[in-house]
Amino acid sequence: MSNTTTRRLGQAAPEGLLDPEERMSVDELRALQLDRLQWTLQHAYDNVSLYRRKFDAAGVHPSDCRELADLATFPYTTKADLREGYPFGMFAVPREDVRRIHASSGTTGKPTVVGYTARDIESWSTVMARSIRASGGRPGHRVHVAYGYGLFTGGLGAHYGAERLGCTVIPLSGGMTPRQVQLIVDFEPEVIMITPSYFLTVLDEFERQGVDPRTTSLKVGIFGAEPWTEQMRSEIEERADIDAVDIYGLSEVMGPGVANECVETKDGLHIWEDHFLPEVIDPNEETVLPDGDKGELLFTSLTKQALPIIRYRTRDLTRLMPGSARPSMRRMEKVTGRSDDLIILRGVNVFPTQIEEIVLRIPGMAPHFQLELSRRGRMDHLTVRVEARPDCPPERRGPASAELVGAVKDNVGVSVDCEVVDPETLERSQGKLQRLIDSR
Ligand code: DLL
Repeated sequence: MSNTTTRRLGQAAPEGLLDPEERMSVDELRALQLDRLQWTLQHAYDNVSLYRRKFDAAGVHPSDCRELADLATFPYTTKADLREGYPFGMFAVPREDVRRIHASSGTTGKPTVVGYTARDIESWSTVMARSIRASGGRPGHRVHVAYGYGLFTGGLGAHYGAERLGCTVIPLSGGMTPRQVQLIVDFEPEVIMITPSYFLTVLDEFERQGVDPRTTSLKVGIFGAEPWTEQMRSEIEERADIDAVDIYGLSEVMGPGVANECVETKDGLHIWEDHFLPEVIDPNEETVLPDGDKGELLFTSLTKQALPIIRYRTRDLTRLMPGSARPSMRRMEKVTGRSDDLIILRGVNVFPTQIEEIVLRIPGMAPHFQLELSRRGRMDHLTVRVEARPDCPPERRGPASAELVGAVKDNVGVSVDCEVVDPETLERSQGKLQRLIDSR
């Protein structure tokens, strides 16, 4: 695909617009982090019984943290810990001081509940405003928010950040796709905040309404809440003629805005390290890995009052890299795998994003696909069901399917089946997409 005709209107933020923390030297940042880390550990220990029990059991006390590396001696926090405290047991402030609750749905059992004080919402708005600015958004821009509003952190997180930056927010939430298209056309937003899979649904709706999505006012899309690949970035940028920028976050740590790409480099996500301290561990050995090595990402909050989080195991796999467009803030590589999404097929590890990369390389295949796991005899089997693009001639489907099977065998090392189905037959995303159907 060629980029020669694209506008690429997302611009690097001028120095003068950045927050002072984005311009700190590494030494200044590390000193700030240590100060905030010591406060966080003490705050968690004094006010959350679960932390006090875990620190005591591990034989560590907040006063043992004299340098940042000492954090490695403190215990991890997992989703199970948050569930144990359901609903409000992890709060470190009186409930009356909690201004807002969010929760993540969780596929089984109780949701994970998180809370924010007024100052937490301030901090969150600050890092979200910073994320939108890094993506190319500016005061005065119109920001269309299609992340879901409600207990999910996406909608309200984006909303407060866009207001903080001085934008005009258009709070659509997810769903009612024809109206999303109509209001993009009528309200002329420069920025859209949406999951990449739902944006594909919106792009198809543009085409259904006979509107060329390359002709809209949109300049920048800020995409996150689910993994997406570089191939998906090209697909989206080409079809909508926008810059597609990656935003990362999770409710347990804050919500969206923990890390964000800079539009001028698109080389991984800068972690807003004045608020969130990252570590990467080997998920099996549970040892801390040096920057550059791939493993499970952990976060410790540095400013949160209502729900301080210590060494939270995100289950997201990535590596830390030195800062680029923001020299002192480390970057994380785009998250393309989460240990929960891993499919182990006859002993071979397969991530849905590996299939996405291949689907998008094959002429005639649309970016809409599903993975179905089934059992044949004693063997697990994976079927990739992918839509043909509307302009794909029927005789192209067989060769395309064979190409996919061959490419998965060569690149991933496992045999799968592939079915190329008619356009518009697979269920469309309205938010976070669930690609895997487990029929075993
Ligand atoms: O998805 C927060 C969010 C909203 C982020 C809007 C970005 C935009 P949770 O529902 O708690 O929070 O889910 C968090 O989603 O651990 C990752 O596995 C995944 N995730 C989030 N952003 C990305 C991303 C929100 N940019 C979980 N790339 C995380 C890959 C992502 N995975």
